[in-house]
Amino acid sequence: MTTPKDHSRPLRLGVNIDHVATVRNARGGPVPDPVRAALMAAEAGADGITAHLREDRRHIRDADIEALMEHLTVPLNFEMAATDEMQQIALRHVPHAVCLVPEKREERTTEGGLDVLRDDNRLAHYIAPLREAGCRVSIFIAADKDQITAAHRIGAQVIELHTGAYCEAVIEGDTATRDHELAQMVEMAAYADSLGLEVHAGHGLTYDDVGPVAAIPQVVELNIGHFLIGESIFRGLGPAIAEMRARMDAVRG
Ligand code: PXP
Repeated sequence: MTTPKDHSRPLRLGVNIDHVATVRNARGGPVPDPVRAALMAAEAGADGITAHLREDRRHIRDADIEALMEHLTVPLNFEMAATDEMQQIALRHVPHAVCLVPEKREERTTEGGLDVLRDDNRLAHYIAPLREAGCRVSIFIAADKDQITAAHRIGAQVIELHTGAYCEAVIEGDTATRDHELAQMVEMAAYADSLGLEVHAGHGLTYDDVGPVAAIPQVVELNIGHFLIGESIFRGLGPAIAEMRARMDAVRG
């Protein structure tokens, strides 16, 4: 696919360090340290760091969030389920951004994003104190008009479009699904932007599929983790991030 180069809005790269913690936790000791990875990622050009504190603490732990808040010089995007426990943690730390993500099957739409429509009243009340505290509130969402409209209505400032289905289609060589998913994201990014929402995207992105998503003019941030951490085994974290940055810049400048 060839995509026209767009210079109008800068595109940030948020690096997700969850899977450094996955490797650490496999042995139960302190290494590899996700905070060290975060600092290295920032040095290598990451504009922000993303970390998901899951309810079962399977990768990132509470102490990691504390250390990230203390040491990071770039913004932290704190991914979390919309639970009372997570809200209290977010209000204690007040990270730059909070991204609400589904953790349980019943919280997500068939496309994988948070089902905002199903829970809009509760989520509106959930978001308000986070915004008041100074967090930028984002919702991880499918490229679906009704869900995006609901996200805007309940007070989200940002949506993060779920790129998972698109990325899977690329891996499977399913060009019809790939093109459909991409077209949907292009259309819904413009729609969200027209409502005044900031648009991010992420999940499953790799060197091979990042270009067309980076080229969507309203998308101003990509959050990428698993592929970059995996690639860093072979070439180191800094070079792995630099290559992603170069591929984003190749379409966005
Ligand atoms: N954005 C969101 C909201 C996510 O939940 C994740 C996965 O934790 C990512 C981006 C990054 O996905 P990946 O690790 O597949 O690059």
